[in-house]
Amino acid sequence: MCCDIMRVLALLLGMKAACVLLVSSLSGTGAVNNSGRWWGIVNVASSANLLTNSKNVQLVLDPSLGQLNRRQRRLIRQNPGILHAIAAGLHTAIKECKWQFRNRRWNCPTTHSPAIFGKIVNRGCRETAFVFAITSAGVIHAVARSCSEGAIESCTCDYRRRGPGGPDWHWGGCSDNVDFGRMFSREFVDSSERGRDLRYLINLHNNEAGRMTVSSEMRQECKCHGMSGSCTVRTCWMRLPSFRAVGDFLKDRFDGASRVVYANKGSNRASHRADPNHLEPENPSHKPPSSRDLVYFEKSPNFCTYHGKTGTHGTSGRTCNSSSMALDGCELLCCGRGFKTQTEKVTERCHCTFHWCCHVSCLNCTSTQTLHQCL
Ligand SMILES: *[C@@H]1O[C@H](CO)[C@@H](O)[C@H](O)[C@H]1NC(C)=O
Ligand SMILES: *[C@@H]1O[C@H](CO)[C@@H](O)[C@H](O)[C@H]1NC(C)=O
Ligand SMILES: *[C@@H]1O[C@H](CO)[C@@H](O)[C@H](O)[C@H]1NC(C)=O
Repeated sequence: MCCDIMRVLALLLGMKAACVLLVSSLSGTGAVNNSGRWWGIVNVASSANLLTNSKNVQLVLDPSLGQLNRRQRRLIRQNPGILHAIAAGLHTAIKECKWQFRNRRWNCPTTHSPAIFGKIVNRGCRETAFVFAITSAGVIHAVARSCSEGAIESCTCDYRRRGPGGPDWHWGGCSDNVDFGRMFSREFVDSSERGRDLRYLINLHNNEAGRMTVSSEMRQECKCHGMSGSCTVRTCWMRLPSFRAVGDFLKDRFDGASRVVYANKGSNRASHRADPNHLEPENPSHKPPSSRDLVYFEKSPNFCTYHGKTGTHGTSGRTCNSSSMALDGCELLCCGRGFKTQTEKVTERCHCTFHWCCHVSCLNCTSTQTLHQCL
């Protein structure tokens, strides 16, 4: 807490360099793990008035921007409007993560502290991989869309596709600017990662896998022209996939993620970018991961019980499905500890009728629902 205040003070005084030193000398361990620190800006989204104002002076007052490094803050200043897109993309990614994992022991828990995903981020398991991939996908997705909506001053629709595309259609209209999104996300998201080790390569690989999933699922959309819907001519543009589709793809990749090791291929020229040639499957009979595959290097914990040290919450209190044999079933979700059953009265609006004009009246229907919760 004191460090946040220091950071804001330092920002106010324009002492950015001094601030970095101050923070790292004061907070000890906190400064060690910078992985994904930019996620802390998720809290900036709640102060909408700060977001709509593109004057830097206001922006630096928000303490959650202290989670960004100097390069990231510069990128925000250079691209007015982009902070809102990043924060919105991060929100979408978190929502999607929770939805995809709602039936699993690890259900993508988040906290209100700047380290929103908790300690899972410092591990190297599948869940870590998913968090990196989905959040970097969230950024490219939101930035590419915001460009085409005119919400970012430094980018527009992607107008590079022009002219005839086929016998009865031509390129036109406003394509989502996925190239700008990718470029920005690489600079912004990847600059949180430091080091040359396996963890670093893996985090960057998973960031890129998220971006690749978004850009390779771009779809062509068309609009008909011509006499009363005759569709003799069509205008087409490229549209982003829905974020649900991105989440579905990444969830599949989570299930099929590759466990990798660092391949020391005798290259002593350390590269700045993640070099996929340095990651190879731990099991030599598996094929090497593609750029869209998620990679990890350590087994996941079982997520059954609370562990302060590893940051797992456990499944006690989670709602389970007593008739399912799958992961959401009480047996597996509760890790064999058993469950308690409660009945709840639930009142819902029902038998709604529309009255001209204009209101709707409903009755209240009460039903009892049975709820199972893990012990
Ligand atoms: C930082 O990450 C390392 C793993 O690289 C972990 O062992 C350590 O507990 C982390 N520290 C904090 C403060 O999260
Ligand atoms: C519980 O599991 C059963 C069997 O898989 C399924 O048909 C049902 O829809 C599930 N109920 C809920 C509330 O998810
Ligand atoms: C339904 O319940 C709400 C509040 O629970 C109440 O305000 C409303 O009057 C009820 N409607 C009827 C038709 O009983």
